Amino acid sequence: MSPQLRSVAAALLLSTACRDSAGGASSSQDFGDDFLFGAAIAGFQVDPGCPSLDAAICEDRASDWYQWVTDPELIAQPGNHLSGQPLSDGPGHRELYDADFRLAGETLGLGAMRVSIEWSRLFPTEPPLGGTVEDLDASVDPVARDWYHQYFASIRRHGMEPMVTLNHYTLPLWIHDGKACHQDMDSCTRRGWAAPEVLIPEISRYAAWCAREFGEEVDLWATLNEPFAIVLSGYMLPGEDRTNPPGVTDPELAIAVMWAQVEAHARMYDAVHQYDPVASVGLVPNLAAVRPDDPDSEADQEAAEHLDYVYNRVFLNAAVHGAVDANLDGVAELTRDDLAGRMDFIGVNYYTQLSARSLGFSLVDGYPLLDFFPVGSFWNEYPAGLGEVVTLAAGYEIPVYVTENGTSDHAEAGDRFLRPHLEALSDAMAGGADIRGYFLWSLIDNYEWNHGMSLRFGAFAVDPSTKDRTLREIGLSYAEVARTRRLQ
Ligand code: FCB
Repeated sequence: MSPQLRSVAAALLLSTACRDSAGGASSSQDFGDDFLFGAAIAGFQVDPGCPSLDAAICEDRASDWYQWVTDPELIAQPGNHLSGQPLSDGPGHRELYDADFRLAGETLGLGAMRVSIEWSRLFPTEPPLGGTVEDLDASVDPVARDWYHQYFASIRRHGMEPMVTLNHYTLPLWIHDGKACHQDMDSCTRRGWAAPEVLIPEISRYAAWCAREFGEEVDLWATLNEPFAIVLSGYMLPGEDRTNPPGVTDPELAIAVMWAQVEAHARMYDAVHQYDPVASVGLVPNLAAVRPDDPDSEADQEAAEHLDYVYNRVFLNAAVHGAVDANLDGVAELTRDDLAGRMDFIGVNYYTQLSARSLGFSLVDGYPLLDFFPVGSFWNEYPAGLGEVVTLAAGYEIPVYVTENGTSDHAEAGDRFLRPHLEALSDAMAGGADIRGYFLWSLIDNYEWNHGMSLRFGAFAVDPSTKDRTLREIGLSYAEVARTRRLQ
């Protein structure tokens, strides 16, 4: 046993002894035996920075996000808010994954890991477009394919179940040249979400291929991570908190991208079920707790309702009920059977409370409810909001997992963050919400998109130079909850 693990084990034993000697809990909140406690990561964020593996293998150079964070011209443009931090400072999970899963499974005692498959890893170069699922066999990178088999086996070997996200933001460069589109959306040819006629069939074919290849190893699939974040930070309001490629401001296009994602989710859902009929397939929206900026202002109260509708509900209404409200006026003008009922679970990512300020006019002509401005950052800590958003999601009468929840301040947060969030979750469950699991974001510090390594979300701190992992206080608390399955 390493000295680090020894000290963790000692700390866990000590905390158990303290609890026992206190004679048990006075107000315990029980999560039950079947509840999944897990941690979430995503390939782009954790892979790079391998201690000995060649960087060209360790990094995923075929993805639009690799281009977005490494291209000197893009980095030099202040509006892109790119840290410019080299990917070599990343945690190196591509090489160290088995040790990381040991930390999750054995040290923290978790029962699940949410991880992603990177489309650009499996298919780094453009396959002939429009073919069958089987045709993709000729284009797959066999090394990447075998690596994912080992990866899922490692998760299981460490006593955990994988939840696998098929698309966690990144797209292959052959389908999305984020730089060219950033520079000129009209002339770029590899248009990503802006070309749904190419993207939707290809991402569904990729999803089907993954279900065929990995279906035996994976039972929980998530189609898209945070579609609304891509709409907002890629096409509407790229800002300091988050810029996604292509990082443009084009509200009409943003709305079109949102509908493209609704459609893509439904087609990916069908594709996975075709090859893995017993799988559970869901979507992972980021939901925000919402309040009026000025609680006494009627206009802000109305703005809050509009923000809640547009941010939290439009996408779910379409994905669950097939309800399409194309002009976002609060009334669905169409119900589409080919969208409805494509959701076995809702995965909720929760990080923030947003305040809505009324503008008194709509930002986009023809879309009457876009008459608010969301005030606040992506990271306003508001624990009660977790209860609010899971209750909202559970209202769709589909099982819910909290697929991400965490703070960039895990280094300092100690017990401030975790306990109140889990209390809010447990209260929502006591109120009848069907919540099946909770995934902490994140297992380890990782490359936080445009921010690089400066935001520290890990239950384990990562030293960018040595790659050492060190348990944080929050990890210790989480291990205690996962072990006892209750808050005390
Ligand atoms: C979410 C993303 C996740 C991570 C956290 C902090 O929006 O899904 O990858 O960046 O924020």
